[in-house]
Amino acid sequence: MMSSRKFFVGGNWKMNGDKKSVGELITSLNRAKVPPNTEVVCAPPSIYLDFVCQKLDQKICVAAQNCYKVAKGAFTGEISPAMIKDCGATWVILGHSERRYVFGESDELIGQKVAHALAEGLGVIACIGEKLDEREAGITEKVVFDQTKAIADNLKDWSKVVLAYEPIWAIGTGKIATPQQAQEVHEKLQSWLKTHVSEPVSRAIRIVYGGSVTGANCKELASQADVDGFLVGGASLKPEFLDIIQAKK
Ligand code: 13P
Repeated sequence: MMSSRKFFVGGNWKMNGDKKSVGELITSLNRAKVPPNTEVVCAPPSIYLDFVCQKLDQKICVAAQNCYKVAKGAFTGEISPAMIKDCGATWVILGHSERRYVFGESDELIGQKVAHALAEGLGVIACIGEKLDEREAGITEKVVFDQTKAIADNLKDWSKVVLAYEPIWAIGTGKIATPQQAQEVHEKLQSWLKTHVSEPVSRAIRIVYGGSVTGANCKELASQADVDGFLVGGASLKPEFLDIIQAKK
């Protein structure tokens, strides 16, 4: 059966680019054709959010890569969902493994951020994923279920959430999860959501894969029944991102 879920392609630029290269990326994205059954969201560094929102064609939405859990105040260096919206962006990535493991963000903090971002009306790309030693120890399911639970506990409405499964061993390593490995975890996440949240949520939510997605491997990944899109890092800065947008055409 064809999935009714709209294919979702996110580009996480991480801490890359400068005004010149971001301008060039925007020019190339503005020329891209977005298939009608695909949604594309790009996440520039926060300092370029305003610039990107002003220049990028509206067929592509804009996400921040992170935000804080309250609207304003004495939190040096942070940005809020209110500011993200003020710049014209409509999404935020939360719980990325680099936030979890480079910056020490806990499940609890990520849950609070998710709750606040949704309350402010942003869409949330919520990231989960196991480390290599966790996969080797056979606890992948436990890790991703626990991370999903910490997010689920903070939510009532899932309609603006995309769940991004990003096995950490596959991020920026060129070592991609096989389409079967991705499908297996996505299917298990879906059935966890069916049991612990609801059947309609499990059917409607998009679970996207992230970790060394490229123009060359995206089609086979996209052909898996429960892979509803991608969160792309490195390749989202390259011309091949335009091929990834077409993966489910
Ligand atoms: P890479 O595509 O560079 O492996 O990064 C994946 C990622 O972390 C996207 O959020």
